[in-house]
Amino acid sequence: WLGIGIGTLLLFLLITGYMGFSMGLHPTDGMERTVEPEKVTRTPPFDNPGLERIGPNEYVLTSVSFVFGYDPKEVTVPAGAKVHFRVTSRDVIHGFYIPGTTVNMMVEPGHITKQTYTFDKPGKYLVLCHEYCGSGHHLMQGTIYVK
Ligand code: CUA
Repeated sequence: WLGIGIGTLLLFLLITGYMGFSMGLHPTDGMERTVEPEKVTRTPPFDNPGLERIGPNEYVLTSVSFVFGYDPKEVTVPAGAKVHFRVTSRDVIHGFYIPGTTVNMMVEPGHITKQTYTFDKPGKYLVLCHEYCGSGHHLMQGTIYVK
């Protein structure tokens, strides 16, 4: 029985390993490599975080996460705005989660995470950190106003 147990465990490890390495599935999927975290604030576009208009109602939001906040802290977009998020961290791993939307990203130092969302409903949207990042984790938040 022990042999069957160990055999099954090895089989599962093999499957997980195969999925992870051969199929390229890992937590950094969808992210691009960037520079060392300590150079983030000196590297475009993250040296100048903020909202950039790229179409009639389409924007790129370049955001830098840090302990314990987001730069920029607040942005305002018109209702119906399509926002392309482009985020990174200048220190540790953070989260970028907007309740009530599908925006849910892990923000890793050394990587750029991207997601796009269209804000159809006006309102105040909180940006919350959902990766524990230190003593001020629970205070880390930003706001997106949709008007
Ligand atoms: Cu940043 Cu938790």
